[in-house]
Amino acid sequence: MSAAITVNNLSKKYGTLEALKGISFEVQSGEIFGFLGPNGAGKTTTVNILTGILRPNGGSATILGHDVTKDSYQAKERIGVVHEVSNVYPEYSAYNNLMFSAVLYSVPRKIARERVDYLLDIFFLRDKKYAKARKISQGMKRKLAIAMALIHQPQVLFLDEPTTGVDIATVFTIREIIKELNSRGVTIFLTTHNINEASIICHRVAIINKGEIIAIDTPENLRKAAKRVQSVEVEFDVPPAKEAEILEYLPSASKASKRGDKLILTTDDPHRLMEEILEYSRKTGCVITHFNTPGPSFEDVFIELTGIKPKSLSAMDVSRDG
Ligand SMILES: Nc1ncnc2c1ncn2[C@@H]1O[C@H](COP(=O)(O)OP(=O)(O)O)[C@@H](O)[C@H]1O
Ligand SMILES: [Mg+2]
Repeated sequence: MSAAITVNNLSKKYGTLEALKGISFEVQSGEIFGFLGPNGAGKTTTVNILTGILRPNGGSATILGHDVTKDSYQAKERIGVVHEVSNVYPEYSAYNNLMFSAVLYSVPRKIARERVDYLLDIFFLRDKKYAKARKISQGMKRKLAIAMALIHQPQVLFLDEPTTGVDIATVFTIREIIKELNSRGVTIFLTTHNINEASIICHRVAIINKGEIIAIDTPENLRKAAKRVQSVEVEFDVPPAKEAEILEYLPSASKASKRGDKLILTTDDPHRLMEEILEYSRKTGCVITHFNTPGPSFEDVFIELTGIKPKSLSAMDVSRDG
């Protein structure tokens, strides 16, 4: 495999804030590479540098061998990008948005027209061809933005949080299309703050926090780590005085912490833990007033993977949508 993206000691400052602290990694041609991190980690900054929108303060990066700053035209020709903030023109129809994109990428009109129909089909947008973008749903707009990034058939596609803020059906369509494009040879660079998403569609995942890459791992390891640190939230009418006290009754819980009156328990076996909690309730007469299985926290997965206790991490979304 050859490298589709190389990043070497890339740094970026906004005033005194070091948004990227000298990150390095490679993405191989044909990979779906996940860039996973909490809000403010530096994901969008990285995408903006790699797609030629921002200049780095230090380091270098290439796309298919072309330097993103010195040879930016060659690099840009080969990439498609879907930004976090939509670049769909609300007053244009889906068709005109796509044709406009074709002009930007110098795709001949006749070829563009054929591709527009094909793209509208695969994104289930055919009946919205002449609808103004402002009249279509958020999910449709996101799909249109992805279609626009594909009009020139790029070899590398950057997607900055493509599934954030859209309905679940759109999330699934987008993930299917990512896999389909990838199976046709398109290299995908996908940012996300969703551990589940990263672990289900990526071949490799880089974890970024506060401008530093902390780990590059396989989705299997990510999944396994996430499985070991699932969480169960429980509240009793009479809360136990100490977390350690209740742990004696719950051998399946590896850790307990308090959040308000709720106990957050970490486990690799939520079902067995549920049994133990019921048993505890029967033995002690404490009534369960709240029970939930919110999934693993990013912090726990992070510690599990890296062995490092981070100074601080933003809350991560580990929705159970896949
Ligand atoms: N234009 C900007 N000016 C100043 N600070 C910025 C700017 N863009 C991003 N930042 C800051 O840089 C850090 C990284 O931001 P960003 O790359 O957008 O992270 P992410 O996409 O992972 O949420 C954050 O602390 C953010 O507040
Ligand atoms: Mg971002």
